[in-house]
Amino acid sequence: MSHTATRNILVTSALPYANGDIHLGHLLEYIQTDIWVRFQKSRGQACYYVCADDAHGTAIMLRAEQEGITSEALIERVSRDHQADFARFGVSFDNYHSTHSVENRYFSELIYTRLRDKGHIATRDIEQMFDPQKGLFLADRFIKGTCPKCHAEDQYGDNCEKCGATYTPAELINPVSAISGATPEVRSSTHYFFKLPDFAEFLQQWVNDGHVQPQIRNKLMEWFESGFNEWDISRDAPYFGFEIPDAPGKYFYVWLDAPIGYLASFKNLCEREGIDFDAFWQPGSDAEVYHFIGKDIVYFHALFWPAMLHGADFRTPTAVNCHGFVTVDGAKMSKSRGTFIKAATYADFLNPEYLRYYFAAKLTSKVDDLDLNLDDFAARVNSDLVGKVVNIASRCAGFVKKLGDSQLSANCAEPQMLARFIAAGDEIADDYEAREFSRAMRRIMELADEANTYIADAEPWVLAKQEGREQEVLDICSVGINLFRQLMVYLAPVVPAMAEQAQVFLNLETLDWHSRHSTLLSHTINKFKPLMTRVERDRIDAMIEASKEDLVEEQKLKDAVKGPLADDPIAEQISFDDFIKVDLRIARIAKAQYVEGADKLLQLTLDLGGETRNVFSGIRSAYAPEALEGRLTVMVANLAPRKMRFGMSEGMVLASANDDGIYLLSPDTGAEPGQRVT
Ligand code: 2FM
Ligand code: ZN
Repeated sequence: MSHTATRNILVTSALPYANGDIHLGHLLEYIQTDIWVRFQKSRGQACYYVCADDAHGTAIMLRAEQEGITSEALIERVSRDHQADFARFGVSFDNYHSTHSVENRYFSELIYTRLRDKGHIATRDIEQMFDPQKGLFLADRFIKGTCPKCHAEDQYGDNCEKCGATYTPAELINPVSAISGATPEVRSSTHYFFKLPDFAEFLQQWVNDGHVQPQIRNKLMEWFESGFNEWDISRDAPYFGFEIPDAPGKYFYVWLDAPIGYLASFKNLCEREGIDFDAFWQPGSDAEVYHFIGKDIVYFHALFWPAMLHGADFRTPTAVNCHGFVTVDGAKMSKSRGTFIKAATYADFLNPEYLRYYFAAKLTSKVDDLDLNLDDFAARVNSDLVGKVVNIASRCAGFVKKLGDSQLSANCAEPQMLARFIAAGDEIADDYEAREFSRAMRRIMELADEANTYIADAEPWVLAKQEGREQEVLDICSVGINLFRQLMVYLAPVVPAMAEQAQVFLNLETLDWHSRHSTLLSHTINKFKPLMTRVERDRIDAMIEASKEDLVEEQKLKDAVKGPLADDPIAEQISFDDFIKVDLRIARIAKAQYVEGADKLLQLTLDLGGETRNVFSGIRSAYAPEALEGRLTVMVANLAPRKMRFGMSEGMVLASANDDGIYLLSPDTGAEPGQRVT
C-alpha cells in the first residue's frame, strides 16, 4: 500500500438564488458534488465543501418588496429553507454562507480594487430603459411590449417567443415596464466594465490546459472566435448588493460578487476552523479547487471568473466541472405536468437516497442531460439497492444470529473472492475520482450479483436443515456479510444514511475506504433491520399530484401579493348583497394539530355549535396547536370545500398577517360558536 500525501481540496457547487425553492434540477448538482466530496473524505483527503445563497440582485429586491418584507428578511428565510432541503438530501456542506456577508464584501472590494488599479476596469455611459414610476433601470426581461416583427403582444424586451425574433427593448412597439406598467424612457448612466479582452491570451491557454471538459472547451473556443466584449459589472441604485468603492450609487452586478461568494464562504470556514485560507488561494498553491456547475453558467465560471482571479493575483480553479440538465420522463420539467418537483415535495413522499442512487447510476463526467424516468427510477432502485445489496445482508443476518450467536465465523471460507472484492475498490475509486459514477455503480452492482450468486449456489437455507452442517452455514453467511460490508464501503458516498445504518448493523467504527482491507472474523454484529424499502409507484404518483398542487399554492401567493402592489391599493367596491353572501360564523377551535409534510399548515377541527368542520390553515408559523384549542375565532362557513393533498378543507379562518406574524381574529367574550357574524 503506497501512502501518498493527503490532498487539500476545496469543492463548491453553484450558489442558489435566494428567491426560489430548491428543485430536482438543482439537486442533481448538489448530489453529484456531495458524492464526490464524501468519496474524497472517505479516502482520507482534507476536502472542504462550501456553498452559500446567492443573495443579491434586482429579482431578490423586487420579490422582497412584493412580499412586503426587507431583502434581508427574505434572504434569511430562504437560506433557512435551502439548508433544510439540503439536509434532507444528505448534502453535507462544511460551510453554508451568503453572498450578503462581510467576507464577501471584503473580497469583492479587494478583487475590484486590484483589477481597477491594474487598469482592467473601464467606465462609459450607456443608454438604457428606465421605469420613471419605480425610479429603476430595467433589465431586458423586465420590459414587455409588442414584437416589432410579427406584432405579437406581451413579448419580452429581447426576444419574441412567437416568431423568435431578437431585438433591443428600444425596438419594441408600445414598451411597458413589467414591474409597474409605466412606459419606460431611455436614460443614460455611467457603467463600470471589466476588460475581459485584456485576458484573451491567458484564457485561451487556460481553457486548453485541461481545466474544463472537452465538450466545454470546444464551446468556449467558438466563443473565442467571435471575440470578447467588456463585461458590464455595475448596476445603478436602487439595487440590493454592494456599493462599488469609488462609485457612489453604483453597485456590483450580482454576477460579479456571486463567484466571489465561494471565497467568502471558504474564508468564513477557515476563520472558524483554523484552516489556512492563503494556502488554498495564493498563486502557485498546490491545493486543488473544483467548481461544480450547470452548463448554463459556463461563461461566468470558465471565462470571467478565472480572468478576475488571475487579474487580482489569486490562483485559478483546478477544474470547472459541468453537468447537464435534468429532464423528467424525457421532457423538460413542467409545472403543469407536475414534473417540476421541489426538493421538499419529493422528500415528503420518497426516500432522498433513492434519488441519490438513481442520479449516481446515471451520472458520467460528461455534460449530457440526465433523464429521470420515473418507471426506470423505481425499477432501478428496487432491483439494485433493495433486491441486490440489502438482500445479501438480509439473507445472511438471521443465520449468523442463530448459529453464531451474532458472531461471524473465525475463518474466511472464500478468501479469494473477498480479495477480489477488496481489489475492485481501486477501480471503483478511479471511477469516483473521474466523476464516472455510473461506471462505479455498475461495477458495484456486478459485485453484488456475484455475492448473490455465491449465496444462492451455496444454499445456506438448505444446509441449515441438515444435521451437523451449522459451521458451514455460518461460514457461508459470514462471507456474505463480509461481501456486504465491502459493498457498503463503496456505496457509502452515494447513500450515506443507509450506510450509517449498515455501519450500526455491522458494528463497525467506520466504513472509510481504507477500512475495507481488514476481514471481519469472529466479529459480533448487531440486529439486522431492513435498510431500505421498495419504491412504490403510488408514492411517485402522489408526489406528482402534490407538485401540481404546489403550482396552485404558488399562484395563490402571487395573486395574494398582487393586492398591495396593484396601482390602486383599495379593493374593488362590492354591494351589500355581495357581502351578505359570505357566511361568517363564530367557531370554537376544538382541536388543532400539525400536518405531516406541510410546514406551514395546521389542521383545525372547528366547532360551529353542533356542526364540526375540518379546515387546513396556514398559521403554523405563529401558533402552537395546543395554544389554540378552546379558543374562539371567525370562519367563512360557506366557502366551497377544497381538496388538498392532506384532505378536504371545509372553510377558512380569518387572520391578518404582516412581516412579524399572523394574527387570528377573535370575538369578544360571550360570543357563541355557530353565531352569525355580520
Ligand atoms: O445560476 C444560478 O443559479 C446562480 N445563482 C449561480 C451562481 S454560482 C456562483 F457564481 F456564485
Ligand atoms: Zn414576433
